[in-house]
Amino acid sequence: MHWPRFVVSSVIAMSFLLIGSRAVGSRAASAQDAAASQAVAATSIADTGTSSFIIDHATAAIRKGRQIFRFDTFGDESFWGGALKLHQAIEGARFGGVGAGLSPRMALGLGLKVDSNALPSDVKAAIANGKLNLDDPANTLALLKLNAVIGVTGFFRSNGSLGSVGIQCALCHSTVDDSLTAGIGRRLDGWANRDLNIGAIVALAPNLSPFVQLLGVDDPTVRRVLRSWGPGRFDAELILDGKAFRPDGKSAATLIPPAFGLAGVNLHTWTGWGSVTHWNAFVANLEMHGKGTFFDPRLDNADQFPIAAANGFGHVRIDPDKDLITSKLPALHLYQLAIDAPKPPAAAFDAAAAARGDQLFSGKAKCNQCHVEPLWTEPGWNLHKPSEIGIDAFQANRAPDRRYRTSPLGGVWTHSNDARRAAGLNPVKEAGFYHDGRFRTLLDVVNHYNDVFDLALNGGEKRDVVEYLKSLH
Ligand code: HEC
Ligand code: HEC
Repeated sequence: MHWPRFVVSSVIAMSFLLIGSRAVGSRAASAQDAAASQAVAATSIADTGTSSFIIDHATAAIRKGRQIFRFDTFGDESFWGGALKLHQAIEGARFGGVGAGLSPRMALGLGLKVDSNALPSDVKAAIANGKLNLDDPANTLALLKLNAVIGVTGFFRSNGSLGSVGIQCALCHSTVDDSLTAGIGRRLDGWANRDLNIGAIVALAPNLSPFVQLLGVDDPTVRRVLRSWGPGRFDAELILDGKAFRPDGKSAATLIPPAFGLAGVNLHTWTGWGSVTHWNAFVANLEMHGKGTFFDPRLDNADQFPIAAANGFGHVRIDPDKDLITSKLPALHLYQLAIDAPKPPAAAFDAAAAARGDQLFSGKAKCNQCHVEPLWTEPGWNLHKPSEIGIDAFQANRAPDRRYRTSPLGGVWTHSNDARRAAGLNPVKEAGFYHDGRFRTLLDVVNHYNDVFDLALNGGEKRDVVEYLKSLH
């Protein structure tokens, strides 16, 4: 029944588009345009051929995605507050919780960030003048009430007390520009929060029994593991394989990567788990403990992922009417793809040296073989065996493909403390490079490649490559 209408009107829609692009301002064309657009308006399927339909939809979806990225807990407050009782540690005994409570100074010290745009002007003035009491947990509760703590939502009871807390993507993948004071400023979505000590924050929770049961270790061990992560790190694979420490005894946690500059990049995460939207569903369900659906039968491999396999993490199911994640994935996906890697301020790097480094990057230093300009990763299947980049396999072996993903390098300056200091920005607490931060500076990275690939770069050439890396966006 519907076929004849579909075929006819899509032909009209196509000729409309062709005319529109060929003959701007021509009378004949615009008369045809008007006739065509009337015909187009007749069916909703053909509406998709109008020039603004897709752009309008994308713009609306990106706005929606931003809201989700910043504010949606996916119902995970039933885990962070409901099960772990994290909100009780935040409010402290004085307000009906436990312990001393989390003062704003402690919260900022743990790397939590405050959105200055969410603050009324008197609060902003008090902060700017040093008049806000940063040692009183009551002020943390006030900030939560204003929805000003980035990535954390407080759920308040009708009597005003804190009933629960949930977390959002923005917790780990946003920071602020410190415009009001250190840790308080305008949001920078997509930037890795390399100050955030998420392990220490989770370790504040009074009840860690869900992790005790899952990992099969005692409460003090869970807390020791969480506290071993340090700022800027999180271990997404711990709940899959239970490996908290590497063979060398160091924490198995990885750095939090940026969530910008990802459009055009095929595989994501340090070890190439999948697409952006695969990982979003993974994180929202398994790590944030939102309420949704997740399918990944690779997690059934009990040798590689004993905990995930035993707990059916590759087969998370929920009644679709109660699913708070799946419907949000499309907009969330679009939003992340829309976050461009930020351009460095001019002061962050030496332009003349960077221009020389550009030549080396695709020449003598061979970087462009993998970090292909201007995507900065391979167009295509962007994974490598650990031996190809001269490092150990520990983290690669914690992912299905047992490989490392070529890091997209746009905006890498945002976690180079040399570049940040040169640009007048506060340094971040964890400025390392590679998945585990093994290289402390970009020069250490270049020295590594120089050795592994026998590049024979001299000191000046290495510095030029470093300056070029800082310029990428
Ligand atoms: C508790 C901190 C934390 C939260 C919350 C979090 N992430 Fe992540 N995210 C990470 C870490 C750590 C990785 C790296 C994981 C790995 O490689 O094993 C990562 C990886 C990613 C990547 C891959 C980036 C790349 O370079 O390819 C994307 C995209 C991403 N997260 C988006 C999100 C979204 C969207 C949410 C919310 C649904 C979210 N994350 C919530 C810590 C977090
Ligand atoms: C064989 C492919 C390959 C070549 C060639 C290569 N890289 Fe990489 N690069 C990678 C992979 C894979 C990673 C991810 C390593 C990890 O996660 O531990 C990486 C990571 C990096 C990082 C860390 C990014 C971050 O966010 O921590 C930098 C910086 C970098 N490479 C720069 C370079 C430079 C400079 C060159 C040339 C001297 C180069 N790479 C050559 C594959 C390559």
